Amino acid sequence: MTVYEKACAKINISLDVTAKRPDGYHDMVMPMQTVSLCDELTLRLEGSGIRARSNLRYVPSDDRNLAVRAARRYLTEIGKPEQGLQIELHKKIPVGSGMGGGSADAAAVLRALNRAFGEPLGREQLTALAGEIGSDVAFCLIGGTMLATGRGEVLSPLPPLPPCRIVIVKPGFSISTPELFQKLDRAPIRCHPDTDGLIAAMRQGDLSGVCRRLYNVFEDVDDRRMRTIRQIKGGLLDGGALGAVMTGTGSAVFGLFTDDAATESCCEKMKKEYGFACTAEAVGELL
Ligand code: C5P
Repeated sequence: MTVYEKACAKINISLDVTAKRPDGYHDMVMPMQTVSLCDELTLRLEGSGIRARSNLRYVPSDDRNLAVRAARRYLTEIGKPEQGLQIELHKKIPVGSGMGGGSADAAAVLRALNRAFGEPLGREQLTALAGEIGSDVAFCLIGGTMLATGRGEVLSPLPPLPPCRIVIVKPGFSISTPELFQKLDRAPIRCHPDTDGLIAAMRQGDLSGVCRRLYNVFEDVDDRRMRTIRQIKGGLLDGGALGAVMTGTGSAVFGLFTDDAATESCCEKMKKEYGFACTAEAVGELL
């Protein structure tokens, strides 16, 4: 049997870190949005063993790949640990960009396998499983617009992002998530986002109110690469964005636009300057 599934990327509309936890993780407060930029997965339930194959050479094919881990965990959970599976990943979400590409692939594997086996696990069981695989996998499983708290795995629905176009830009470098968390731990966080104000603006459909409150605490970390992040934000604002912010631990930055012509021309300009840029739309719940 062959099944297909899309793995949509996420963006953090804002990102706050509120505490370092005894388990080494951090408590987060993150309004998140699923976007149309996606990887495409083909799952073949055949043979023995679980392997992944990708259009990118450096994406691991074994258990270092979250998609393989998700499949193994799911098949064990439903009592079919011997089931063979080949996962073909057509990656379009840039790796190391803070858009949750690996988490989205793992979440897509969970959705696709649960459908293929006749939905033996309910939404809650599937979400719990996702939370064990990685902090962002639960959000990538459900999708839409959500407030993610805890490690990122505790989700509550938010009003949708007011209608807008999104331009996503990624510079040539990637940023390692654990490395940036370590840097964040070395100095107190000087400024926190106004998450309540942001959510109130979303509830009122007030895009400028949302754009004034886009903020990511990682942008203030002592790291030379943040200079490039600020340049990209400046480029997006010069190109007509109402607001711009880094997503997750970077290195991708997105801007929110209302004007179609400005969206397209800014995207073209950013692609030439930084290597990767695309336009995207907000996407509703996936499960
Ligand atoms: O959960 P996940 O494997 O995606 O997390 C990757 C790394 O990011 C963790 O090992 C940890 O260093 C950091 N992290 C954190 N607090 C979170 C989420 C991730 O410190 N809430």
